[in-house]
Amino acid sequence: MSSTTTSTAGMATSLTPSSGRLFSHGIDAHYGDFRDDLLKNGYAVVKGAVARERALQYASDIYQWLEEFDLGFDRNDPTTIHKDHLPDINEKGMCLGYAISHESFTWAVRQEPEVVRAFEKVYDTEDLIVSFDSVNIGFPNRKDIKPNSPWPHQDQDPAKPGFRCLQGLVNLLPNGPKDGGLIVCKGAHLLSEEFHEVFKEEERIWSWTTEWYGFTEAGQAWLKERGCEWVKVEAEPGDLLLWDSRTPHYNLSSETSQSRLCIYTCFMPVSDASREQLETKKMAFEETKMTTHWPNAMHVVDLPVYRNGEIDPHNRSKPRFPVQLSERGFKLTGIPYLEQMA
Ligand SMILES: [Fe+2]
Repeated sequence: MSSTTTSTAGMATSLTPSSGRLFSHGIDAHYGDFRDDLLKNGYAVVKGAVARERALQYASDIYQWLEEFDLGFDRNDPTTIHKDHLPDINEKGMCLGYAISHESFTWAVRQEPEVVRAFEKVYDTEDLIVSFDSVNIGFPNRKDIKPNSPWPHQDQDPAKPGFRCLQGLVNLLPNGPKDGGLIVCKGAHLLSEEFHEVFKEEERIWSWTTEWYGFTEAGQAWLKERGCEWVKVEAEPGDLLLWDSRTPHYNLSSETSQSRLCIYTCFMPVSDASREQLETKKMAFEETKMTTHWPNAMHVVDLPVYRNGEIDPHNRSKPRFPVQLSERGFKLTGIPYLEQMA
């Protein structure tokens, strides 16, 4: 079905499409909410998707989780922000172990109704699955790990164009212009196909997956010539940040004394996943393994965790407590849909 257009007092006005996922009605469809920003800019902020007090509580829960490693980290003592006192967190703020993907705070955020609701609106279905992705723990002024250099990229295979994936994160602490975090190339999602036609012979930056494309300096210059600007997205505790996987992006480290904590949340229709992928996802859930942002468990992250150059004895395969899910939360694992297929 295409978007409906009517004429009011001689003016053409596009109406909210009645069905279909985002982009299925072109980029001139009008929804009157964050979806308009996604269409036009390739990113959006859903304000207050999580109540501020709850977002701050989730941040506190993450601090407690860090303190419970008993490595000496104390949220009230900035001198303890050091790799000797923390689990392994890389220079981009990614924590890729310790079953953090299945911790209480991670699952609680994934089950926040307005977070899920935003993705329901984008895909026009309640039958969604969610990624078992990571948490970003960005402390300011870290001198104990290497600097965070920009890595502008798309999380989508150039050979598979079109809107395929909406990425998201729930921001848990105040996040102003210099507090680090997501930076996006505004509007460049719409230039993606043209870009890759121009750069198809270019030598690509290496990646472990074809679903990642890194922009070279020439590529970045092309985007600049086309008038695209890089925008640091600002957010309050509880805001949901969304971006089209085609939108070039990376993250910045804080230049202030403000830390950044956020939980990645990415949902897609269960109908986009194959049976085999749902089986992989079931295994990942039952074994509390991490995935990347792809909710169809395209990639399961199961790497050894090194800390200070050695296998970290503090790594663990299970979260502190068994995963607590609502009925809806369980559907987000994909398992009930797999059982229906049996
Ligand atoms: Fe990314």
